[in-house]
Amino acid sequence: MSKAGDSIGIIGIGYVGLVTATCLAELGNNVVCMDIDAEKIDLLRQGGVPIYEPGLAELIGKNKGRMTFTTALEDVFSRCEIVFTAVDTPPTFTGDADLSRVFAVVSALPGLSSNRHILVMKSTVPVGTGMKISIELARQEINNIDYVSNPEFLREGSAISDFLNPDRIVIGSREAAAGQKVAALYQHMRAPVLETSIPTAEMIKYASNAFLATKISFINEIANVCEEIGADVTEVAKGMGYDKRIGSHFLKAGIGFSGSCFPKDVTALKQIAGNSGYHFQLLTAVIEVNELQKRRVVNKLKKYLGTLTDKTITLLGLAFKPNTNDLREASSIVLASRLLGEGAYVKAYDPVAIPDAARAVRGVLLCDDTLSAVEDSDAVVLVTEWDEFAHLPLAEMKQRMHQHLIIDGRNFLDPAEVKAAGFTYEGIGRS
Ligand code: UDX
Repeated sequence: MSKAGDSIGIIGIGYVGLVTATCLAELGNNVVCMDIDAEKIDLLRQGGVPIYEPGLAELIGKNKGRMTFTTALEDVFSRCEIVFTAVDTPPTFTGDADLSRVFAVVSALPGLSSNRHILVMKSTVPVGTGMKISIELARQEINNIDYVSNPEFLREGSAISDFLNPDRIVIGSREAAAGQKVAALYQHMRAPVLETSIPTAEMIKYASNAFLATKISFINEIANVCEEIGADVTEVAKGMGYDKRIGSHFLKAGIGFSGSCFPKDVTALKQIAGNSGYHFQLLTAVIEVNELQKRRVVNKLKKYLGTLTDKTITLLGLAFKPNTNDLREASSIVLASRLLGEGAYVKAYDPVAIPDAARAVRGVLLCDDTLSAVEDSDAVVLVTEWDEFAHLPLAEMKQRMHQHLIIDGRNFLDPAEVKAAGFTYEGIGRS
């Protein structure tokens, strides 16, 4: 049994919390994982993994001797000096982040322990939240807890590698000593450590995600112009990407960004700016372009099929991106709803997200594989670029489908291969 204070605590065993806990255990730390969801904690205790993330189940198995699971905050504070908070901060109906779960932790702190602790914020919280929490701790006369902001930059699908090989580590603190203790956890990683104030650390996270989202909306608009003038956005992006000032990442045109972070964080940053009296015009456009981008597919379908009433449309891929079962804000949900609204029948297949889709999308016929999903279909829309869709069984699909149209929402397929198999092909911004 480890002694008090030498373990690391993680509160909130969602996506970020579980990856953080597992990777900290992989780095040799004992980790106490706490969540209010007793079912999830039971599952983890029994060796189950509540989310799909490549390599995560194996890494948890490898480090199970160093990971304990609990529903009691007391267990965390009795054993850990450094306690990460990774509870979720979903958007409210105004677009602000809902901080109720963060403040539930803060208000539970009094009386938990008289030892010194460092509360490390991993959840993405609006700029200013760290200061608010510091004020709240002072108001409650809790003087034994330092606060450190340590934002995460994990991409779903490659979260473990992102955690263990970060581009940078950002540490925001008021007490340099507390910040340095948190920085020491990452000492074996070859990445620059940026020590800043708490609001600056909070802003780095939002600004990074907003910039990446802006890149995507930018290339999507370029794609839309390419369609008008007969250019190919995949080549344009390649040509732009060679310029080191631009870089080739996040220049893939498609049916818009989705997921649990970009839509939420871009809206929250716009809201943070608005709440402080600044109108962030660029982000307003980024959001609007993204919304319209998902719907453009419907017009592409109509261009070939005429009315969509009583037509059968197959969505290949439902997850917001490959290698995850996450459907939060997924383009597939908007697209499916729009198609159903047009009177179409919608069928779908996803290699991983079907169980979650059964809860998230209504009115869609969920299928077990590509071929059953395309049976009697008038068109296929490729929504998520899963590896298994790279070489579709086109000959068999042709036999089973009613009409032979493929809209490639991710510019993922080889147009020549698709056309050679007798299909009409249209991508996004591809001439
Ligand atoms: C993102 C950030 O990358 C990560 O640093 C942050 O901590 C959490 O949010 P994630 O949401 O997992 O990670 O996905 P990401 O790979 O960034 O993609 C987000 C969305 O943008 C996806 O819907 C993806 O399909 C889309 N995208 C990405 C594009 O449309 N084009 C691109 O070129 C890149």
